[in-house]
Amino acid sequence: MTEQTLILIKPDGVQRGLIGEILHRIEAKGYEIKAMKMLDASEELLAQHYHEHVDKPFYPSVVEYMTSAPLVAAIVEGDRVVEGVRSLAGATDPTKAAPGTIRGDLGRSWPGDSIFNLIHSSDGVESAQYEISVWF
Ligand code: PPS
Repeated sequence: MTEQTLILIKPDGVQRGLIGEILHRIEAKGYEIKAMKMLDASEELLAQHYHEHVDKPFYPSVVEYMTSAPLVAAIVEGDRVVEGVRSLAGATDPTKAAPGTIRGDLGRSWPGDSIFNLIHSSDGVESAQYEISVWF
């Protein structure tokens, strides 16, 4: 089966009207959107998705951010798509993310504890399969 990854367009991406821009970059690269939905993420869903991070000190900031508005979840498909979408997204910190990436071009730091970095993408093939099962 062709490789798939899970992306989330995070609440700041939705609120700032960047759904189309972000999806365009993914489609223009040549990947295919196989499924997509907009939803309000529950704390339970986020705990499953971020199960490796629930005990970390920054996790309350993640929950505050990710429950602040609706988000978009999508399954993206293509050869080596996990690696490719990570590359398109750029570094976690939008201030440091390279120009040309989604976070580098469209993201920035804002006052407060939360990192507003627009997009999540799975970091491996196995985690992608797990995350797709969480959201779809
Ligand atoms: S770690 O400990 O290095 O594995 O953590 P890291 O990969 O840097 O971050 C894990 C995910 O948590 C998000 N994160 C945050 N979101 C909002 N606010 C704050 N303060 C914050 N700190 C970390 C980070 O973006 C990662 O989520 P994803 O969805 O993968 O981008």
